[in-house]
Amino acid sequence: MIRLCFIVLSVAFCLAGCISGPIEPSVLMTGVAMVPTAIARIATPTALHASTAQLAQGLRVYRAQYCGVCHQLSVAETAGQFGPSHDGMARTAPTRLLNPAYTGTASTPDAYLRESILTPEAYVVDGYALSSHHMPSYAHLSRAEIDALVYLLAHQR
Ligand code: HEC
Repeated sequence: MIRLCFIVLSVAFCLAGCISGPIEPSVLMTGVAMVPTAIARIATPTALHASTAQLAQGLRVYRAQYCGVCHQLSVAETAGQFGPSHDGMARTAPTRLLNPAYTGTASTPDAYLRESILTPEAYVVDGYALSSHHMPSYAHLSRAEIDALVYLLAHQR
């Protein structure tokens, strides 16, 4: 009798183990369902999409604000000569910060570009103080528009 009880109990435990054991079917299904999501996350170059969109937005603002009347920027097909060229700005911006004559308050290239657009009088690039076409402030633009311009210029190599 005791032996029979033991067998019945063992079978019961085994069944219980199969149904509510560590790997429940629902958990397993959730895990399986998550695999495509994980693959999609790895495969989708989110960062790349974001940067392409940001560059495109930067170009739109650059053209809409006529920055190219005074600046040269090949990707925007502009050739303005009243201000410094924006081609190679990713390399130019750090050199401005290293210049002992720099009078602004920026400490990173992005901050320098932002400062140049919002408060151009903070630092006037050598040779442009007497320009008849001064860099106007664009502080009236939205935060998103300024961000896009900074992004665009910071990526000109
Ligand atoms: C009326 C002419 C004019 C227009 C329009 C203009 N700029 Fe300028 N910009 C200048 C001049 C001149 C300088 C150089 C003097 C100075 O540093 O302020 C300059 C300097 C700059 C600099 C610093 C460049 C460097 O080599 O360090 C940036 C960045 C800049 N402009 C961005 C812009 C952007 C973005 C726009 C459009 C939203 C714009 N500018 C529109 C005349 C202009």
